[in-house]
Amino acid sequence: MTMAPLAAARILLIIGGGIAAYKSLELIRRLRDHGAAVRVVMTQGARKFITPLSAATLSGDSVRDDLFSLTDEALIGHIELSRAADLVVVAPATANLLARMAGGLADDLATTVLLATDKRVLVAPAMNVRMWLHPATRRNLDRLESDGVLVVGPDSGPMACGEFGPGRMAEPQAIVKAIERALEAGPPTDSGESVPKSLAGRHVVITSGPTYEAIDPVRFLGNRSSGRQGHAIAQSAVGAGAKVTLVSGPVALPDPEGATVIHVESALQMRAAVEAALPADAFIGAAAVADWRVADVSSDKVKKDSRSAPTLRLVENPDILAEVSRRTAFRPAFVIGFAAETQDVTANAKAKLTRKGCDLIVANSVAQGTSTFGGERNEVQLIDRDGVESWPPMSKAEVADRIVRRLAAELAKRL
Ligand code: C5P
Repeated sequence: MTMAPLAAARILLIIGGGIAAYKSLELIRRLRDHGAAVRVVMTQGARKFITPLSAATLSGDSVRDDLFSLTDEALIGHIELSRAADLVVVAPATANLLARMAGGLADDLATTVLLATDKRVLVAPAMNVRMWLHPATRRNLDRLESDGVLVVGPDSGPMACGEFGPGRMAEPQAIVKAIERALEAGPPTDSGESVPKSLAGRHVVITSGPTYEAIDPVRFLGNRSSGRQGHAIAQSAVGAGAKVTLVSGPVALPDPEGATVIHVESALQMRAAVEAALPADAFIGAAAVADWRVADVSSDKVKKDSRSAPTLRLVENPDILAEVSRRTAFRPAFVIGFAAETQDVTANAKAKLTRKGCDLIVANSVAQGTSTFGGERNEVQLIDRDGVESWPPMSKAEVADRIVRRLAAELAKRL
C-alpha cells in the first residue's frame, strides 16, 4: 500500500536540540513548497537553537513543545498528533534523542509521540563524529533500524565543532527525497512487513579475492587476499536490498547468499566479467588484482631445466577500478576502491583516489604485524575528496555494513 504523495502528505516534524536545527527550518519550507502540510514538535533543546516562532511561521501552524500544555492537550493530544500524520520525521535526531527512542522512553512530548505512533518514522541523525561512532550510538541505531525506523544520512564533512567525519545532518533536499521514498513505502503493518531497504532497486558490482595469473597449466602468480572483506560487503549489500553481482577470484569462502557470483581466476577474466555485469549504480573494487601477468603463458608444464632457471617476462594488467571510474558511458554513480598499503597509508590512498578517478578509497594497512589479510578484523580509513575519516578497529562484517550504509547515503544524494 502506498501513502499520500508528498503534495498531499501530512508530516509531523520533530526537531531535536542540535546545531543542525536551523536546517530543519529550510526543510519545513521545502516541504511546504511541495504542498505537504507540516506540523512541528520541538524538544526543549531545540528551543536553544531556533525559536518556536520561526518554525510556526514557516509551517503555518502552532508549534508544540510541552507534554503537559493544557491548551495543546485540549486542542490535540499527543496521540492525535501522530494519528493526524502520514509520516513522523525526526530532524535533527541527536544522539540523546536516538538513545531515548531506542530505549522506549517517553519523558517529553517528542518521545511520547514517538512511542505512541503507529506511523512510519524517519530519522536524520546529526551529532559530533565521535558520538556518531560511539558503540552506544551504533547499538541504538541498529535497534531502531530493526524496529523499522528509517534513517537518512548523516553526511561526512567538516563539522560545526571543528572535527571532520560522519555526523552532519543530511541536507534538506536529501531529507525531502527520503521522505518521498518513505511515503511510497507506506505505513508499517502489524504483520512484521519488512522495512524498505536502503539499496532496494540498486545494482552493485563488487570484485573480491585475489587473481591468479597463470605461468603454465599448473603454476600461477597469486597473492594473499582472502576475499573476506569483499564477500562481507556483498552480503551486506544483499541485506540492504541491492541486486549484487560479485566477481570473485579464487577464494575458500562460500558464495554470499542472494548474490549472483561470477567465479574468475585472472585479471583479464575479472575485467571481462565486470564489463559484462555493467551497468550498475555502484562499483566496489575490493579484489587484490595482480598488477602484472605472465607475457607468454606456457601451454605445457615448464620443465625443470638443469642448466638455468626460467625467466618470467611480465606485462601489465588492465586497472579495472580505473577503467570503471573513467568510463564515459554507463559510469556507475558511485565507485569505491580499496588501498592495501604497507606505509604512508593515508598519503598513498589520497594519491590513489585521484589517479584512479574513484569517489572513495577504503584504505587499510597490511604492514607486518597487522592481520588484515585473511583476518576477521579490519581497521580502515575512508578517503574522499573532502578528507579522511578513521574508523576504529572492528569486524570485517561491521566494516561492510558501514560501507554499505555510506554507499546508500551517497546514492540517495546522487540518484
Ligand atoms: O593500485 P592498487 O592495486 O593499490 O589499487 C587497489 C585498488 O585498485 C583496489 O580497489 C583494486 O581492486 C583495484 N585494482 C583494479 N585493477 C588492477 C589493480 C587494482 O581494479 N589491475
